Amino acid sequence: MIYSKIKGCGSYLPEKILTNSDLELTLDTTDEWITSRTGIKKRHIIAKDQLTSDLAFEAAKNAIKDANLQPNDIDLIIVATTTPDKVFPSTACILQKKLKIKECPAFDIQAVCSGFIYALSIADKFIKTNSAKNVLVVGADAMSRITDYSDRSNAILWGDGSGAVILSSSNKEGILSTHIHAQGEYEDLLHVTKKEQAGVFKETIDMRGNQVFKMAVNTLDMIVDETLSSNKLAKEDIDWVVPHQANIRILEATAKKLNMSMDKVIVTIDEQGNTSAASIPLALDYGIKEKKIKSGHLILMEAFGGGFTWGSALIRI
Ligand code: ACO
Repeated sequence: MIYSKIKGCGSYLPEKILTNSDLELTLDTTDEWITSRTGIKKRHIIAKDQLTSDLAFEAAKNAIKDANLQPNDIDLIIVATTTPDKVFPSTACILQKKLKIKECPAFDIQAVCSGFIYALSIADKFIKTNSAKNVLVVGADAMSRITDYSDRSNAILWGDGSGAVILSSSNKEGILSTHIHAQGEYEDLLHVTKKEQAGVFKETIDMRGNQVFKMAVNTLDMIVDETLSSNKLAKEDIDWVVPHQANIRILEATAKKLNMSMDKVIVTIDEQGNTSAASIPLALDYGIKEKKIKSGHLILMEAFGGGFTWGSALIRI
């Protein structure tokens, strides 16, 4: 049996930090409100001269090094992003150029906050069908580029960053299953729309936060059940949950559903905010580097985002 095993991971956060106190200066909000409603204290913001592919490049370099590989060992690149450098070429192709990888297929996936799970799911299929041996899977987003900083219910949430894994073919257990879904009818609850800011029209995020919150909690409950039952596993079998970091209250609801203490949930939202497709690989890299997640552990990744899209992956590390 061929498995896809995580052979290495890496991440990158831009230097600039935007704290809740910084936001208090420009918005009608408080650190207390943001912390209690979202769990977020600060987020990293991409530099003016950086692009999403620059974030992806740093995380990818770290992941390739962590896997003890050379860039040209990679035979497929998938980048999950909602904030590509340009409409084309894909950020994956730009990343390929920056990594000086000679030739391999490279493409982007757009599933907003569920993008990394979608990308992982596709990479797993390439490996299981023997179509690739070492896949570079990246989640990279510069959400600050599509945030309306005059909208207090939105500006507080988003951060920038990237995370990457190398998924390699192995005869040892790795990805046990992935599950991806979409339901397009809820577009109006969470989407990007053209708004005027200081006389300039800009595409920014528009979200009915409260309704999205309720949908996210209920949907993540269902995906946890689906993942466990398809693997004939029980809640107690899971060592760590590595969730998409949207809101600490959503993370707490998932932990409750699993009868799990928050000590078993990787939390980075306080330091990073919601980095969309980057949040799961950033959390994974943090969990591994902090020696929380160890070899042999069973981890559940789950995400919910714009589309709506949602998904999960159950992985033996
Ligand atoms: N500071 C102070 N007050 C605020 C702020 C703020 N930053 N933002 C909103 N408020 C106010 C509102 O105006 C409202 O005031 P009102 O009662 O006088 O009208 C009140 O707080 C409550 O607003 P809600 O929107 O009901 O607040 P809620 O508790 O739902 O928190 C939040 C808002 C944080 C956005 C939350 O709904 C949330 O996290 N939603 C889910 C986000 C998510 O999961 N997105 C999906 C993934 S992201 C992706 O796919 C791209």
